[in-house]
Amino acid sequence: MSVIRKCLFPAAGYGTRFLPATKAMPKEMLPIVTKPLIQYGVEEAMEAGITNMAIVTGRGKRALEDHFDISYELEHQIQGSDKENLLSETRDIMERCTFSYTRQVEMKGLGHAILVGGSLIGNEPFAVILADDYCVTEGDGVLTQMVKLYEQHQCSIVAIEEVPHDETYKYGVIEGAEESEGVYRLSNMVEKPAPEDAPSNLAIIGRYILTPDIFEIIQNTPPGKNGEMQITDALLAQAKEGRVIGYRFQGQRFDCGSVAGYIDATNFTYQKSGA
Ligand code: UTP
Repeated sequence: MSVIRKCLFPAAGYGTRFLPATKAMPKEMLPIVTKPLIQYGVEEAMEAGITNMAIVTGRGKRALEDHFDISYELEHQIQGSDKENLLSETRDIMERCTFSYTRQVEMKGLGHAILVGGSLIGNEPFAVILADDYCVTEGDGVLTQMVKLYEQHQCSIVAIEEVPHDETYKYGVIEGAEESEGVYRLSNMVEKPAPEDAPSNLAIIGRYILTPDIFEIIQNTPPGKNGEMQITDALLAQAKEGRVIGYRFQGQRFDCGSVAGYIDATNFTYQKSGA
């Protein structure tokens, strides 16, 4: 069994960039070809040995819970037909994993969503997946790579990737020393810096492993940009003590929180499937 047993999925955001699609449907249910983003995230966590999925939802997000539940009528309808296998992966997930949910009542940022999810995690290190960052790899999944690194370092880990200099304003950006190929010990992090203020072009993407002291740190960190509680601000406290690693993962990320990234991911996956 993995040393990391639980994965938190903050999925309470409004997804305003996808309106009107996300008016009554969570962004995490948008499909890449036929599979919703959240399912790719859950499969990545399972590959890393995690079976306990903790999802932070909000108003209008009930479809997320229904997706990982039995649909008797539908399953009865397709029983014995060639469509039955289309649900086999989802079935397998439901048999092997447990799902727990909590609601973020006010959307006060990613840090706040993680804090709200703390009740589902308890006092142990845990993974975080932002399902709208869709990651494709040749070998191990991104979270599997990170869990292996956690086993060596036992501290918080953030996945990072190089972004164009003029796009740093969209991300948390890191500063740190490269200890080994692709592994940085972080000394500083800046949330959404203008290119001229960015300490590097290495941006944090939606995969984290966090040690549980992060909950108390979030609670004691004043709100940052736009009055939101940013996870970057809380991680900075751990980084100042040398307890955060930035990991330049092997693989490709699609920003499916943006329309262009979502379309790229869809085209890429459709072509790869050879359909
Ligand atoms: P985003 O910055 O992509 O925001 O959140 P959003 O609301 O989902 O989308 P837009 O910008 O309005 O289109 C990054 C991740 O953090 C979660 C989101 O669900 C997403 O997975 N999040 C963000 C929360 O769970 N709660 C929040 O208060 C904010």
